[in-house]
Amino acid sequence: MVSILEHMGQTNLANTLTGYLSPVDFEQDLKTELEMMKIEIISQHGRLFICLGGFQDVTFAQDTWKNVEILAYATISQAAELLKSRARRWSHYSLSHHRRAELILDKVPKVKIKRYDFLEEIPKTPIGVFSLLSETEIIVSPETTCPLPFGEIEFNEDKINPPSRAYLKLWELFTLYGFKPDAGMKTIDVGSCPGGWTWVLQTVGTNVVSVDKAPLDPKIAALPNIEFKQESAFGLRPQHVGHLDWFFSDIICYPDKLLELVTRWMESGLVDNFACTIKFQKPTDFETLFKFKAIPHSRVVHLSCNKHEVTWIHSKEIK
Ligand SMILES: C[S@@+](CC[C@H](N)C(=O)[O-])C[C@H]1O[C@@H](n2cnc3c(N)ncnc32)[C@H](O)[C@@H]1O
Repeated sequence: MVSILEHMGQTNLANTLTGYLSPVDFEQDLKTELEMMKIEIISQHGRLFICLGGFQDVTFAQDTWKNVEILAYATISQAAELLKSRARRWSHYSLSHHRRAELILDKVPKVKIKRYDFLEEIPKTPIGVFSLLSETEIIVSPETTCPLPFGEIEFNEDKINPPSRAYLKLWELFTLYGFKPDAGMKTIDVGSCPGGWTWVLQTVGTNVVSVDKAPLDPKIAALPNIEFKQESAFGLRPQHVGHLDWFFSDIICYPDKLLELVTRWMESGLVDNFACTIKFQKPTDFETLFKFKAIPHSRVVHLSCNKHEVTWIHSKEIK
């Protein structure tokens, strides 16, 4: 097998390399998205794709490794020196030679692995990541897009109050991505049952219009500042709800139906910001995903707890 160092020699060493890491089990979706974006894949190592060119915003990349270098090293100490000269804190993504990599990690400052509380501050300084390709080759990135290893956040969960684990999606969006409505704002949550998202929106102090065809969990329905409408979200008219600071949707529907729904609410001019789960069937509807990505002031991300779904955020804060 040609080593990646030789492969790079055959292409162009002066070119920037970027690493895209897929969520667990979504390698094929990441590969398809990279190909559709005409990003040239140099090599694949499990969930990690090393690509030619600088950073691009790729939805099925849960973490992106900037300025990747593939270096030769001879000893553990030499590898540690290579790392220390490039970044201040390091994480290890295991591809091979796990024990050797852990010995290297022991010699450099490590990223602390911990569980976070809801809205706890996340360290903003970039982190480095490395992987061993062989006993002599190391993949190194001094800066990943996510300040947490592999784009994953683990929370100290609330096992008592929320009626479903879906609340973790909003916890991640608010804590890690920093998109959060302020107390006193008016929000809508469509497809809200049993009430995990409505509960989060209520706990951060917003006035929530909560909409689902099914009933809310009675514990959530009894909380203050929640107006529940038991009806289809597709029949609801923006003019009947009025101005909204945030529109949230975790509704189960085809991606193109969601696009129709949010287009109607965007065109009403009554909504300032959106955060919606786009839920996919197999195969993934990339055509609609790219339509969401093309909406100005938007990002589409794969959250740690998203499975075969992604989260679209539309906000003036996004350039
Ligand atoms: C994944 S669940 C939402 C979970 C919720 N976010 C939570 O935190 O508990 C999806 C919901 O979409 C609702 N739904 C499906 N079609 C709908 C429609 N046309 N209008 C309103 N809700 C709908 C379902 O009843 C279901 O409760």
